[in-house]
Amino acid sequence: MKSCEEDIFCGVNRPENEDPEEMDVLEKKHTPVIKAPDTVEKGEQFEVEVEVGKYKDHPNEHGHFIQFIELYAGKTFLGRIDLTSEKTEPNVKFTVKLDHEHPIVAYEHCNLHGTWKSFEKNIKLE
Ligand SMILES: [Fe+2]
Repeated sequence: MKSCEEDIFCGVNRPENEDPEEMDVLEKKHTPVIKAPDTVEKGEQFEVEVEVGKYKDHPNEHGHFIQFIELYAGKTFLGRIDLTSEKTEPNVKFTVKLDHEHPIVAYEHCNLHGTWKSFEKNIKLE
């Protein structure tokens, strides 16, 4: 029997190293990558882009696809986008406002490979 660390369906997966050169194929295909400004105005709208498969394309077919992408500021839930196979790509944009400074983090769920977490993106509020 696999330990939780060996079982991709136990807990949340994330590569040890943020450098894509150090990631294995599964990590490259599944780790969500956040693109957002380094600094924003407190309470003002800005865009956060989340892409799954940035370092290596993830399949997008009926038997294997990304089911949803969620965004958090620290432990505060910001939003969730549900996806379908073939018709939507796991490359989404959230429009958000922040009143408090917390690292932004994204989660995605693959129907075959479990839940994956991005590295944290720090956004400074002015
Ligand atoms: Fe997958």
